[in-house]
Amino acid sequence: MRAKMWIFDCANTSKRLFPTWRQLFWCYYAAVVCLLSSPVRTDDACPFSCICDRDSGTVTCREGEDTEIPEDIPVWTSSLIITGRNVSTLERGAFTANGTELEMTMLSLSYNGIQVIEPYAFLGLPRLHLLDLSHNRLMSVSDRAFHGVPELRSLYLNNSILTPAVADLSGALGTQSLRSLHRLELAGNRLSSLPLARLDIYNLHVLVLVNNSIESIGRENVTNIYQQKRLRVYLSLNPFRCSCGLESFYYWLKNSSQCPDAGHLLCSEPEAKKGTPVEQLQGEDLDCLNENLEAVSYVFLGIVLALIGVVFLMVLYLNRGGIKRWLNNIREACRDQMEVYHYRYEQDSDPRLANVAV
Ligand SMILES: *[C@@H]1O[C@H](CO)[C@@H](O)[C@H](O)[C@H]1NC(C)=O
Ligand SMILES: *[C@@H]1O[C@H](CO)[C@@H](O)[C@H](O)[C@H]1NC(C)=O
Ligand SMILES: *[C@@H]1O[C@H](CO)[C@@H](O)[C@H](O)[C@H]1NC(C)=O
Ligand SMILES: *[C@@H]1O[C@H](CO)[C@@H](O)[C@H](O)[C@H]1NC(C)=O
Ligand SMILES: *[C@@H]1O[C@H](CO)[C@@H](O)[C@H](O)[C@H]1NC(C)=O
Ligand SMILES: *[C@@H]1O[C@H](CO)[C@@H](O)[C@H](O)[C@H]1NC(C)=O
Repeated sequence: MRAKMWIFDCANTSKRLFPTWRQLFWCYYAAVVCLLSSPVRTDDACPFSCICDRDSGTVTCREGEDTEIPEDIPVWTSSLIITGRNVSTLERGAFTANGTELEMTMLSLSYNGIQVIEPYAFLGLPRLHLLDLSHNRLMSVSDRAFHGVPELRSLYLNNSILTPAVADLSGALGTQSLRSLHRLELAGNRLSSLPLARLDIYNLHVLVLVNNSIESIGRENVTNIYQQKRLRVYLSLNPFRCSCGLESFYYWLKNSSQCPDAGHLLCSEPEAKKGTPVEQLQGEDLDCLNENLEAVSYVFLGIVLALIGVVFLMVLYLNRGGIKRWLNNIREACRDQMEVYHYRYEQDSDPRLANVAV
């Protein structure tokens, strides 16, 4: 804008003082040379290996040898996209040049191999609304990583959190500075439980936990989710264990409309219920009372059998005299029988011998 004005002035002036076309040409030529060679103002500069679009306020930095976050981010930047770089550590104040705050509202840092987020990494971005940290390889996230971004509304962390960082998550996300958080996406992180210690500190409307390793959500967590009436929780692609521990979750699923993808939740255990939609289970499948009754009845049966055995042994013991007599009687009866048989055998032997003789 300013450059155009300057050229326009030049044209006017030259018309008055040097009316020839030749002079006019030289005037324009000088203006162009002057513009190209003058030192560029910092807020017009585009960081090395980035593309700047001043109209939309977008700066896009794609893969390059650079492993650093550019230092000279223009002050007019409203969206900064850095992708495909090997940024292993996000240091404190990584986005503040010289302690000046940036008015940036959108920061996308997906696919940068980020492993460590240090305390106050996003300091100096007080207007930040959206932060995308998806598809990184986080091993460690400081408890104070998200300090200083009070207006953050959307945080994307899908496919980014490796096992060592899972334990850091509830600390890092538990900060008061995320109180405006509206949408939290944590898909594909092998999480086995709800990574938030409390829900009432945020203004959460959407929590995405699809494609994790959640087998069950306990009564306490279900109650807390239920109390956040606005909250919607997405949970498909988790390996639910459909046993009695899932009961309160099951009733929450059926009763509340807080899980928009409820129809897609499948059991993965026990083997007999694998692939069954959680919503289609019957109440008694998950009834802890039923399960307990079954266990109780087996124990009861065992006790009865043991008692019968003991009684039987006692009867034997008390009757040992009678049993002895009885055994003797049997033995005698046997002997008598044998004798009778023996006698008959001797009687019969003669005719048989006679037959043979004939
Ligand atoms: C990224 O940088 C680290 C050291 O800064 C290096 O060890 C690693 O090999 C790099 N990875 C890639 C994919 O360039
Ligand atoms: C940072 O500030 C110092 C002095 O305050 C100045 O000399 C330097 O050029 C500044 N650097 C940038 C990148 O603005
Ligand atoms: C992951 O994050 C991106 C933002 O980069 C979002 O658009 C996408 O829907 C998320 N993926 C899943 C599976 O939720
Ligand atoms: C689920 O997450 C894993 C990483 O944990 C990823 O490799 C896989 O592609 C994801 N699956 C789907 C269907 O998004
Ligand atoms: C979820 O349950 C765990 C373990 O019982 C607990 O530490 C955590 O605070 C609960 N989170 C919410 C939001 O209820
Ligand atoms: C939710 O489910 C439970 C199951 O025990 C039931 O007692 C309760 O009435 C249901 N609440 C609503 C609002 O449907």
